[in-house]
Amino acid sequence: METFYITTPIYYVNDTPHIGHAYTTVVADILNRYHKLFADDSFFLTGTDEHGQKVQNAAKARGLEPLAHCDEMVLRFQAVWQELAIQPDFFIRTTMPFHQECVQRCLQVLFDKGEIYSDEYEGWYSVSEEIFYTEKDLVNGKSPAGKEVQKVKEKNYFFKMSAYQERLIKTIEENPYFIQPDGKRSEVLGFLKAPLGDLCISRPKSRLNWGIELPFDSEYVTYVWFDALVNYISALGIHTQGPKGDIFDRYWQSAVHLIGKDILMTHAVYWPTMLMALNLPLPKQIFAHGWWLTDVGSKMSKSEGPVVAPLDMKDLVGVDPFRYFLIRDIYLGNDAKFSKELVLARINSELANNFGNLASRTLNLVQKYLDGAVPAPSETQNETKELCILALQCAPKVRDHIRAMAPNVAVEQIISLLTATNKYLDTLAPWKAAKSDLPLAAESLYSALEVLRISAILLSPVMPNKMATLLGWLGWNKPPNFEDAASWQLLSEGTKVSKGEVLFPRI
Ligand code: MSP
Repeated sequence: METFYITTPIYYVNDTPHIGHAYTTVVADILNRYHKLFADDSFFLTGTDEHGQKVQNAAKARGLEPLAHCDEMVLRFQAVWQELAIQPDFFIRTTMPFHQECVQRCLQVLFDKGEIYSDEYEGWYSVSEEIFYTEKDLVNGKSPAGKEVQKVKEKNYFFKMSAYQERLIKTIEENPYFIQPDGKRSEVLGFLKAPLGDLCISRPKSRLNWGIELPFDSEYVTYVWFDALVNYISALGIHTQGPKGDIFDRYWQSAVHLIGKDILMTHAVYWPTMLMALNLPLPKQIFAHGWWLTDVGSKMSKSEGPVVAPLDMKDLVGVDPFRYFLIRDIYLGNDAKFSKELVLARINSELANNFGNLASRTLNLVQKYLDGAVPAPSETQNETKELCILALQCAPKVRDHIRAMAPNVAVEQIISLLTATNKYLDTLAPWKAAKSDLPLAAESLYSALEVLRISAILLSPVMPNKMATLLGWLGWNKPPNFEDAASWQLLSEGTKVSKGEVLFPRI
């Protein structure tokens, strides 16, 4: 049994969730469900990042107190996650008292160790990224990502991030899987060629009071990224009693931070150096996925223009097919275009025509020729033997690809098995055989039922509702688990199967 701890970024509650937020969270949910299917000890954390300038501004614009604004926005996030069948093991809010206490404990530890000092600060701040820049970081008077910046001059507290530069470089060089994909790893190493500055980790309350107070100076609050990153460990109950007790030792070293590439540097530079200073081990991996792009190839985001509302897509195609699309059409790590046409094309070809068609023809023929009951298993034909081999290879392949963070390749294995089974039925043509050689028809239908059973188990992390329905039609009432997906001929003779309806209507 392996241990797996998957996190998403915690999202700013300045706006409602959009497709990008939904994407990371759906992928994390699917990975968590796969690991649970493999009987791994798996924990999935997501949540909301509620402090900072951006959220304070959003609350102000709505004429609300920050916390009242957050309370309302959080419900919207949670409602969307529920509609998308996302089931985190814990949902963290940075305004939760245990988290705030943990952040303060971390700050105090660093302060006591001399890792934090105060100094006069002069620089530039990007509110939309919540990041400080120095004069030389700016490109044409804007942040390197092209965001507006404002001048800031004040006394602040700094974390001695620069002291950890060499150790960080060494860690990344020695652990090729620490930052993935490889391109992102090189980007971080490239960035670390220039000297690393110290990190400004405070804001005077006179300018921003929506944050966690510094335990050693009540005139200041913590910089939002220092607060936010700590969520990954506060949720595990380090330093304070977390929501699930002390599960830090159980999960931390198998942590995978799934993030969008927009926040790579904060995760790959700020966070590991903070952990080093705190004397804590590093997470196992930081995995930066790509972006969903608009038709014209720019990142989908509210500040850049209209974005797809996740629930509109879900209402159009259904929650399970939508989840399927999100995981299927993109290599984790690459960018991909998002459009309604692409969603429909993928769903119609693979789910309606391939998977759905196999289910309906098999169940209909079993109804028609075998009284709606599972026949006895048999393997007299070479084609059947070959199909059995393919089917038995599928589950281990899926597991390998999921463990390698390649969920689209995992799903492709199942789709190939379904394609092969449709061809197999075309070859053995049970609708013809039933009239002259019933045992032969029964053999091919039994095998097709087995493939449906295996595929439904293996796709249940992606499409939990539809797969539960299909398993029900097959008369398979056990909760999905890996062992059953890795075995052949488990359906027992005589089990009643339903005729079923259309599993995936063409859209
Ligand atoms: N609050 C910080 C994260 C703190 S984590 C300790 C933050 N929040 S955010 O609300 O801006 O969310 C950013 C994340 O949303 C990205 O990292 C990514 O996971 C997701 N996405 C937002 N737009 C996206 C796309 N167009 N495509 C894919 N995912 C993107 O940053």
